[in-house]
Amino acid sequence: MKTTRLTKIMAAAVGTTLALGLAACGGDSGGSNGTTTGDGGSDSAMGAWDKNGDGIIVVGFAQTGSESGWRTANSQSFKDYFVPENGFELKFGDANGDDATQKAQVRDFISQGVEVIVIQPLSNDGWEPVLKEVQEAGIPVINSDRRLQGLDQYYEFFFGSDMRGEGDRAVAWLEGHIAENNLTNDDIKIIHLQGQMGSDAQVGRTEGLEAGVEKNSWTIVAQQTGEFARDKGQAAMAAILNSVKADDFTVVWGENDDMIYGAIDALEAKGLDPKDYIIVSFDGNLSAVQMVADGIIDAIAECNPLLGEQVGQLILRASKGEKIESPQFSVEGVIDITNVEEKLPLAFGS
Ligand code: AHR
Repeated sequence: MKTTRLTKIMAAAVGTTLALGLAACGGDSGGSNGTTTGDGGSDSAMGAWDKNGDGIIVVGFAQTGSESGWRTANSQSFKDYFVPENGFELKFGDANGDDATQKAQVRDFISQGVEVIVIQPLSNDGWEPVLKEVQEAGIPVINSDRRLQGLDQYYEFFFGSDMRGEGDRAVAWLEGHIAENNLTNDDIKIIHLQGQMGSDAQVGRTEGLEAGVEKNSWTIVAQQTGEFARDKGQAAMAAILNSVKADDFTVVWGENDDMIYGAIDALEAKGLDPKDYIIVSFDGNLSAVQMVADGIIDAIAECNPLLGEQVGQLILRASKGEKIESPQFSVEGVIDITNVEEKLPLAFGS
């Protein structure tokens, strides 16, 4: 464990490792809306969702943009799996971080007559009218990555991350860190960099942290969005450091790795050493996991971007008439010094 401004003297690194896999998944309840689920009656080997029976399911993929390393890995996992050899053609829609563009792309997929639409929503807001249009067009919708909260009746299944769970796991890690290092809750003064406001990833992770703050009487000294991007995280942190002094915070909490990279840039530009602070991040890009090994980042709550193959296989099963359990969440844990050697070879991206 690194020596922070707070802890000064701490025990040497613990060598135990935890077996926390990213790839597996488990669901809890629910199911598809039943309005468009395949009946298995199609002549196509690809099932009922291959409406024209040509052996290829044409999928419109509504992606948020390319704001982060996580997003790059996520897009690639869909491009790799949704290929003709696996029975798919992918029409890739890049919303470039714009809500209206993403909804327009989904409407465009309807006009193009795609056979399935996969939505990874930028935000939770304003989807119902669009989803009704897709439903009226008889096109099955799959929701992945960020859950469309309260709209289960419009999609066949959700496969992605439990964002509130990620926030709760990061809080549990900090509680454990306090106990193991003889800190007190009064020591915990947090600069909180939030993701894109209104996205399930931001809302769930922020709710998790705020519940932890309330429960443990921690302090949030500053809270600002960096929209999941390195440059915006850097700018947000630099602005905060203009008013928050080096001794007035002890924790930097960023809702993804890219914003943490930006926050570290801003700390260093101010002549501050990131190792003097407890740094908590989300995702698990290779560079960030390496920073855990190097004692710069203290903990990363994992978020699995490699969803393409699992979503593709679930689509095939649904197309053949199987009722798919929903929601289904990636199995995710927390990376810290105790398990980083095991996690490094599994990390995604760069
Ligand atoms: O929805 C997943 C989140 O979106 C990731 O944490 C973040 O890096 C991405 O941009």
